[in-house]
Amino acid sequence: MTDRQIPKWSELRPLLRPKPVELDPTARRLRDALTIGDLRTVARRRTPRSVFDYTDGAAEAEISLRRARALFRDLELQPSILHDVSAVDTTTQYLGRPSALPFAFAPTGFTRMMHHEGERAVVRVAQERDIPYALSTMGTTSIEAVAQAAPDARKWFQLYVWKDRAAGEDLMARAKAAGYEALMLTVDVPVAGARLRDVRNGFAIPPALTVRTVLDAGMHPSWWMNLLTTEPLTFASLSAWDGTVAELLDKLFDPTMTIADLEWLRASWDGPLIIKGIQTVADAQRVVAAGADAVVLSNHGGRQLDRAPVPLRLLPDVRDALGADAEVWVDTGITSGADVVAALALGADATLIGRAYLYGLMAGGHRGVDRAVEILEKEVRRTMALLGVTWVGELGPQHVRLP
Ligand SMILES: Cc1cc2nc3c(=O)[nH]c(=O)nc-3n(C[C@H](O)[C@H](O)[C@H](O)COP(=O)(O)O)c2cc1C
Repeated sequence: MTDRQIPKWSELRPLLRPKPVELDPTARRLRDALTIGDLRTVARRRTPRSVFDYTDGAAEAEISLRRARALFRDLELQPSILHDVSAVDTTTQYLGRPSALPFAFAPTGFTRMMHHEGERAVVRVAQERDIPYALSTMGTTSIEAVAQAAPDARKWFQLYVWKDRAAGEDLMARAKAAGYEALMLTVDVPVAGARLRDVRNGFAIPPALTVRTVLDAGMHPSWWMNLLTTEPLTFASLSAWDGTVAELLDKLFDPTMTIADLEWLRASWDGPLIIKGIQTVADAQRVVAAGADAVVLSNHGGRQLDRAPVPLRLLPDVRDALGADAEVWVDTGITSGADVVAALALGADATLIGRAYLYGLMAGGHRGVDRAVEILEKEVRRTMALLGVTWVGELGPQHVRLP
């Protein structure tokens, strides 16, 4: 039999530790989000369905994205014990220059639709946290306005090759003049992927006022209020566009583009060149031979070809094939700091993240993007310490077992 007693107030009092009251609902939601998955849950509640689905969704049956995430989920991390991990250095290099963290913000279109603070919020976090930021051709804030919002951030400009080559040259010249460090050419969009969630939702840019969207406005009043009372949602790189999204993409993307066009690009851009959307070893070698300084192994977050190669699986072979000829970065499916660490261990020089920061943006604008970075940074540090490594250069294939 256990002896029991009535607890005394003096014993109970130290146990009473109520959580500090946070009156600002956004701050409260962000504080309570412990993972990128938690930020996704907040984002889903805070934004209209079609906007959330545009961001969260992928192409066709969304197999590419599921497989990429599944490989990160199913791999095994192999720790080494009894090392002094009291100080962990997360610094890595992009284009030969140090960066505070081993992830950068991938280019994403229509960012101001996800939250009215849009690209400016993302680039400001990039500046504050020393993370490079790639502005998309499909951005909703101009090249110059993004530069002005964060003059000291490391900025890259992501280009889609346009049918109208002069327009592309003009964008490159503007990016150069505004101090963008590098050009990122995305090569996995010869035609637009089939994003079926968007078709089913009748998604349009700017969002059309239909019975459905008006009903939705009642459920997400602050999102709609912000949309209607801030700068109209337009594509910043297209000064006069009044067609549908499909027509726009058709105008932009040039399905005739080949590797020979990289010569034209090299002649128009004299800074570092990153090629994004590489999905085979042979293509990685071809673009590096044609002058690329870095390649991004990516299937566009599963938004283009469905059942495409999983970039992480391709990584060790590309690393071997390229050696020191070019930097190898990887994206698609990263939702935690442990994913970033696994990619580095398998040979990536660095990574890009897309949805991870967009969920933060949708959940709380600038503060939400910052929370996403904070979550990922803590996870990177903790994972490295638990693996027994103190800097990125110590990570190697011995730390990861792929299924
Ligand atoms: C909403 C959204 C818009 C995107 N827009 C672009 C774009 O305009 N240009 C581009 O090169 N990639 C674009 N991407 C792909 C990202 O740059 C990146 O490759 C992808 O998001 C990585 O996968 P993750 O979201 O799983 O991190 C977009 C991705 C998302 C989710």
